Formats: sequence, structure tokens, C-alpha cells
Amino acid sequence: MSLAVARVLVTRQLPDGGLDPLARAGHEIVPPRDDDTPLPPEELAKAVAGVDAVVCVLTDRIDADLLRGAAPRLRAVADVAVGYDNIDVATATELGIAVCNTPGVLDETTADLAFLLILAAARRSSDAERDLREGRWLGFRMKRFLGQDVHGRTLGIVGYGRIGQAVARRAAGFGMNVIHHSRRDTGMPGWTGDLDELLRVADVVSLHVPLTPDTTMLIDARRLALMKPTAVLVNTARGPVVDEEALARALEEGALFGAGIDVYEREPEVHPRLLAAPHAVLLPHIGSASEATRRRMAELACEGVVAVLAGERPPNLVTP
Ligand code: GLV
Repeated sequence: MSLAVARVLVTRQLPDGGLDPLARAGHEIVPPRDDDTPLPPEELAKAVAGVDAVVCVLTDRIDADLLRGAAPRLRAVADVAVGYDNIDVATATELGIAVCNTPGVLDETTADLAFLLILAAARRSSDAERDLREGRWLGFRMKRFLGQDVHGRTLGIVGYGRIGQAVARRAAGFGMNVIHHSRRDTGMPGWTGDLDELLRVADVVSLHVPLTPDTTMLIDARRLALMKPTAVLVNTARGPVVDEEALARALEEGALFGAGIDVYEREPEVHPRLLAAPHAVLLPHIGSASEATRRRMAELACEGVVAVLAGERPPNLVTP
């Protein structure tokens, strides 16, 4: 007898093996589009309304209307992401819909990418490689592509959860002095409750806060102006944490040395001024994109769905 107990919509293509927990549990999978394009909001709402659970990604907006239209059949929404700002968790909670995410499995991979951006922005590797590829390299010159040292400098980490701490471990190996800011005292060495002070003293600032109303535009024009003109800003968290236009202006004016950015205010749009700004290393939201990590994220999200559908409490539950 078939044990297909539930229908689960998977909104986007996931790494091979990522859906295994759903398949093992015998659930029916409603697959994503062949070309892996996102479902437009009305189609997403319609698709969600006919299933027991959804495995989605951060580009799927799971808002109150969608959730209300899908309740009471919908029992679980699992984001294949650690950040779940795309989901209206309060409404899900009110409707008794469980929300899961993928904490813990992408910290090291994302910290690797943050460090890549720290090094690339400080040492201007994208500019230099572009020059070489475009045939403009005329040979070794002492004054070309001078960047900022990373070793021996002060790294200011904003948001000191698992990913921020993983970045701090890497920084120790580079001989950096590490300080961190979070609203609550972490009790760990290097904590400051004063974000402005961190921005004033850090040579590199790396952002690792979730996107919430409090962190939206956290790094605005006023705060960018506090940073040293030799400093580098790195954002692998969420785009709206930084005012992109103000960042572009700071780079244009030389008020900030460089930026390493993986996330944007209106993805996949990138502010044209940021695209044109000097010393900006820009990546297309690939923080967690290693084969092993993306697969583990997919599995963890699916494991969350399987647990909720079985009436169990998964460890990656976001809703209370
Ligand atoms: C990626 O941005 C994530 O939140 O996992």
C-alpha cells in the first residue's frame, strides 16, 4: 500500500538528493518548473492552496494572504535558507502552520564567502582580474591595484550568531583584531553595544544580522560616514540591511575604500550606481553555494517538513 500521506510543493529546483527525506517518507512531491524560474505570486498562492506543505526558497514571498488562502490544509512551510524574512511567521503561527529553516548547516560555507569578500574587496582582486582579462595588463607595476592589508587590522562583526563567530575564527588565522556588536551582551571578548563606535574603529566591517524591522537600513548614510575612508564593508546577510545608494555614493566619493557585497536590496536588481562604483566586489547571492552545503540545506528543510507532517517537533522549527 502506498504511504503517500501528503502533497508537498517544492517551489524551486534543489540539489540532487535534497528531496530524499520527502521521498523516503512517501510524500507526493509537486515539483518546481523545469526551467527553475520562480512562480509568480498568484501562481504560488494557487499552488500552495492545494498542498499540505511547501519547501520554498528566500525569493518566494510567503505572506499573510497566501497563508490564509492555504490554511487549514497547509501545515508546514520550510525555507531552504537560514534567513526567513520572506515568510510572515506571525501569521503562520496564528494559523498553526509550522515554519522551518536551515540553521547550523551553512555557517562555515557562508563565513568562507564573507572572508573571500573581505580579501577581494581589500585587495581589489576583481578590478585587477578584469584588467588582465580585458587585455589591459601592461606588466608588473609598483603602483597598480594597491589595496588595504587585512592581516593585523581590526575586523568589526555586526551580529554575532553562528556565522559571525565563524568569520571571527577565520579572522584569528589572519592575525586580525576582532570586535563584535550585538544588542545583547554576548559576554565574549570584543563585544561592544555601540555600533557607531565599532564602525569608527574597524578596518573591515562584516554584517551578519538577520533582516528585521530593526536591521532594515541599519547601515545608512550616517553610519557609512562614520567608517574610515580606508575601510571595507562586507554584506553577506540581507541587502536591505545596507542603503545601497548611500554605499555607492561613499565609494564614489572615496569616503569608503571598498565593499564586498553578496546580497542586494531588490534582488536580482543591483543598484546601477553600485555596479559602477569603484572598489566594489559584487557577487550574486552565493553565500551558502557549495555543493555539500546546498544539498544539506535542502535535506534539512525537507526533514523539517517530514517531522511536522508526522506530528513531531523538528529541531529547525522557527514558529513557537
Ligand atoms: C541565504 O541567504 C540564507 O538565508 O540561507
